[in-house]
Amino acid sequence: MALEQYRARARLYDHELLPFEPLRREAIARLRLQAGEVVLDVGCGTGLSFAPLLERLGPQGRIVAIEQCPEMMARARERVLGDAVTLVQAPVEEAHWPGQADAALFHFTHDILRRPTALDNVLRHLKPGARVVATGLQWAPPWAWPVNLFVLGAATYSVSSLDGLAQPWSELAARLQGFEVHPTWMGSVFVASGVLPTPAEPQRRLRP
Ligand SMILES: C[S@@+](CC[C@H](N)C(=O)[O-])C[C@H]1O[C@@H](n2cnc3c(N)ncnc32)[C@H](O)[C@@H]1O
Repeated sequence: MALEQYRARARLYDHELLPFEPLRREAIARLRLQAGEVVLDVGCGTGLSFAPLLERLGPQGRIVAIEQCPEMMARARERVLGDAVTLVQAPVEEAHWPGQADAALFHFTHDILRRPTALDNVLRHLKPGARVVATGLQWAPPWAWPVNLFVLGAATYSVSSLDGLAQPWSELAARLQGFEVHPTWMGSVFVASGVLPTPAEPQRRLRP
């Protein structure tokens, strides 16, 4: 279902996303990227995040961009100059790519956030302590019910199931440390962030 939705939307997608672009800037700022780092752009769509990510990553930085929809990926490919971006065309839950990244961005990727196997595959490709930022639609509080008409319309158009729309970030929250959720747009959009836990130091064996 998600695949069919985006096959049809690819041509107009960049125009449709224009009102949401300030959120992309905010999400990317929260990644706290350093020059030369590697970042995963999960469900990269048409590659709208490539330029603002590379602005922060500098000439030595790298992006690994994962996207299942061929039409969206074709648009992303048009945005790639040089070897700073590696494109992986596959469902995130099945995708393979080499190396471990310093950060991951999930910008408006509800279907991926609700799929534990997809999240686990992404997190396996992150270094301990890597920063993760996710954004997207969520149900606003009940008092803001007119806003929820907007959420209903936008979500019906862009996600394959409304399940989990109360807390789209919950699977991520269960996997990350220092998890914070910042609601915005009267609670109808979230910007969430956290850090991949560092495995506990192995206990040093004491001599008897
Ligand atoms: C709303 S768009 C967001 C695109 C991009 N992140 C952006 O910021 O503009 C959601 C994207 O996720 C992709 N997607 C959905 N489920 C996916 C999955 N399981 N694996 C890979 N891509 C997926 C869709 O094809 C679509 O391009």
